[in-house]
Amino acid sequence: MICLCLGESTLEKNRELVAKNREYIDLCELRVDLLAPKEQKRAAEFPSMVDIPVILTIRRVVDGGRFSLAERTRKDLFLKALDGEFAYVDIEDDIKKTDIETKAREKGVKIIRSIHDMERIPDDIFSKIYHLAERGDIAKIAVTPRGFADVMTLFRIKEELKGVDKIVIGMGEYGVCTRVLYKLMGSMLTFASDNEVAPGQISPRKLKIDYRADKVDDKTAVYGIIGNPVLHSASPLMHNRGFQAISFNAIYVPFLVDNVRLFFAFAEQIRMRGFSVTVPFKADVLSYLGNITREVKQIGSCNTVVRVPGMWKGINTDYYGFLRPILKELEDGHIKTALVIGAGGASQAIVWALRNRGVKVTILNRTLSHAEKIAKLNLCEYDTLDNAPMYRGKVDLIVQTTSVGLYPNFDGNPIAGFPYTGKEIVYDIIYKPRMTKVLQEAEKAGCKLHFGSEMLIEQGKMQFEAFTGYHYPSWVDPGL
Ligand code: ATR
Repeated sequence: MICLCLGESTLEKNRELVAKNREYIDLCELRVDLLAPKEQKRAAEFPSMVDIPVILTIRRVVDGGRFSLAERTRKDLFLKALDGEFAYVDIEDDIKKTDIETKAREKGVKIIRSIHDMERIPDDIFSKIYHLAERGDIAKIAVTPRGFADVMTLFRIKEELKGVDKIVIGMGEYGVCTRVLYKLMGSMLTFASDNEVAPGQISPRKLKIDYRADKVDDKTAVYGIIGNPVLHSASPLMHNRGFQAISFNAIYVPFLVDNVRLFFAFAEQIRMRGFSVTVPFKADVLSYLGNITREVKQIGSCNTVVRVPGMWKGINTDYYGFLRPILKELEDGHIKTALVIGAGGASQAIVWALRNRGVKVTILNRTLSHAEKIAKLNLCEYDTLDNAPMYRGKVDLIVQTTSVGLYPNFDGNPIAGFPYTGKEIVYDIIYKPRMTKVLQEAEKAGCKLHFGSEMLIEQGKMQFEAFTGYHYPSWVDPGL
């Protein structure tokens, strides 16, 4: 079930929120502590204003809520609210045998026994959950994983605590994968927020339509992307749309990771079929692969890992994704010489790809020694960025591979003022924004442009094939 957490200040605004998200949610949680004081007293009216089950919650400040008045006042609010037809009431574990509990039981309102930890995961989390559920109530733990090891602990809950009704939520950025894969943790529901304000919150639409989180079952194949940062990645939307279009029972999730070794153990634990790899792990994953392609070996970087019998196999689809949009120009002989701006990880793959196609390459970089290193490995020339204007009219292709100009620094341009002749093909691998400063200047000069989004889509399509064995459906908008 997907539960919408209601954080508006009036009952009416919360009703509107439910109406707006109605098709994506199964129930909602009225956060009385977030209501204006006058509205708090009217909480009992809310269940009859909506057509889905409502959880009654009055969260204290210590548990991450806003209720700061005396415990007595909170108890009175609970009792008054329980006159309404709530389906569930959330009572913190340290509130013992109260009138609230008695009234809830009399009225047949299900009790959710909760523990919150905004800082960490409690040490004895399994026994805590067990204890919460002891009296037949639903156990709820909302805790904060501080690294991927904590995330792995949460994913063991389903196995360790079979037959216990529970709600498990990992908060914060590491917890995002737990909110999407809530069913894999044995959690009966996941919480969604209409405005994704705090890190880790996801909108109901995203959970229901983009991820189809509520459709995950025992047979669903899990894929994902590992990186740090990773939550901004466009890959989940592209792959999930692809899976959905070909009715492939799979889900693709972003995993914020701080330790690659642990992630491989996790991937075995939940029997993942494959995952994408982004910054900064493209070289780190190599030690865990039993099989790599020639490109991965040559470039020293892997962006796609797939499960093959008995081992993990690494491939590099960035390489192909970069080449695909300019393949025709390469084959027609329009690209014989190239300037590659930058000498980082991306540059390495691109220089190799171009050299492999027989293109004469010069690498221009701010730090000459970095350019020299890649140039020596690939038998090409190198120079400093300051000398860029000297290459006017001498190259067919200019590729921008640095992070300069990347969102949110729209104004960056490592070759600002470059004297284009207008005959160059200019390719910026940044995809956000689509039209970078480099491309804007090149367009003004009449150059032909290639966009980072083209590369992203092509590498993603090839990944999709490696993951599923099917072509990416041509009728689907990958959302980039
Ligand atoms: P990636 O692996 O994504 O390519 P990276 O390894 O961090 O990223 O590479 C960053 C590239 O951007 C490098 O070529 C870097 O130049 P240096 O080798 O001199 O560090 C380049 N870069 C980053 N910031 C830059 C800036 N402000 N001006 C020019 N080049 C810059």
